[in-house]
Amino acid sequence: MKSIYFDNAASAPMLESVVQSMSQVLMEMTGNPSGTHKHGRKCRAAIEKSRKSIAENFNASIGEIFFTSGGTESNNTALNCSVDQYGVQRIITTPIEHPSVLNTLSFLKTKRGIQVEFLAVDNMGRIDLAELENKINAQNDRTLVSIMHANNEIGVINPIAEIGEICKSNNILFHTDAVQTVGHLPIDLNSMYISFLSASGHKFHGPKGIGFLYVNSNNIIQPFINGGSQERNVRGGTENLAGIVGMAEALEYCKNNLDKKRQHVVALRQYFIEKIKTALPPTVKIMSMEDPEDCLYTILNIMVPQTAKSDLLLMNLDIAGISASGGSACSSGAEKGSHVIGAITNNKQAGKSVRFSFSFLNTTEEVSQTIEVLKKSL
Ligand SMILES: Cc1ncc(COP(=O)(O)O)c(C=O)c1O
Repeated sequence: MKSIYFDNAASAPMLESVVQSMSQVLMEMTGNPSGTHKHGRKCRAAIEKSRKSIAENFNASIGEIFFTSGGTESNNTALNCSVDQYGVQRIITTPIEHPSVLNTLSFLKTKRGIQVEFLAVDNMGRIDLAELENKINAQNDRTLVSIMHANNEIGVINPIAEIGEICKSNNILFHTDAVQTVGHLPIDLNSMYISFLSASGHKFHGPKGIGFLYVNSNNIIQPFINGGSQERNVRGGTENLAGIVGMAEALEYCKNNLDKKRQHVVALRQYFIEKIKTALPPTVKIMSMEDPEDCLYTILNIMVPQTAKSDLLLMNLDIAGISASGGSACSSGAEKGSHVIGAITNNKQAGKSVRFSFSFLNTTEEVSQTIEVLKKSL
């Protein structure tokens, strides 16, 4: 049985060119990047070349890219630094952020007394910019806005350029978790007001355990991991050289193939939507926005009515060799209610939500097979 991988938003398969670039580093780059000798300098050069190509991808400067261990660390760092170093006292966010944001905010609230305010989301996960402005205006000093670029469970896209403009005109900080969009949507950081942006390599066909935090050059940050002078003194510890090189390679591939990749996945997702509507019972609901302009084209979330069969749906898919997810990566396969679905349905929707997430490596044949399994399981 050929397996089908529809959990790309949890982790996208590494590209062959990424594996090759990393193997080369592992085989040939013996030194420590902090070493001053030839071997060390070779490693340092590889890191700085990667930083340059990543920065260029976003129209950012090299001094604005800090390598981290992934999206979780980037989110934690942006939020904690805002409180510790910028004196932020209030954070405005949404209830559908990733747990690495929500749990950090809950920590900052209980341990540090930070005021956390949630914007309402509608039945598609959209925020209201007027509400954001009202909240900011109610008390705008020492405020940070933390709103994700695209949601990882339903794919709704937030208008980060407009949110940035609102934050800019109020002179407050803006963090966006762009873990699901980097590599999939073009992002020009020079043309937007964004103070911090989080990204993670394994969401765009790079390696796991590596990511970066963009910190706008107006916002100098102090060390958040004390140690050596790596990452311009702010994150001590010997760099994950192979991870950094692999991530830069993956991003370069995504940049060069963005339109082709997008076209393929948009068509695949559209085919999936049509099949859901024509081949599955009408009780199966599409929870993501259908238009790929409003919704991240890599994600499609469906809800099936709560029955004994639906409880076993993910398991049945798994038995048929199809990997999908019940929510975010942390709860992939876990039979746990989703806070995102809860928020967009006011906790009223009784059903089981399943997220299918695609990459350019998926095929329409795989969609057809999945529809057949869904048909049988339901
Ligand atoms: C939106 C979002 N933010 C953050 C993360 C965490 O990223 P990482 O796995 O690199 O820690 C994820 C991973 O699922 C995500 O989807």
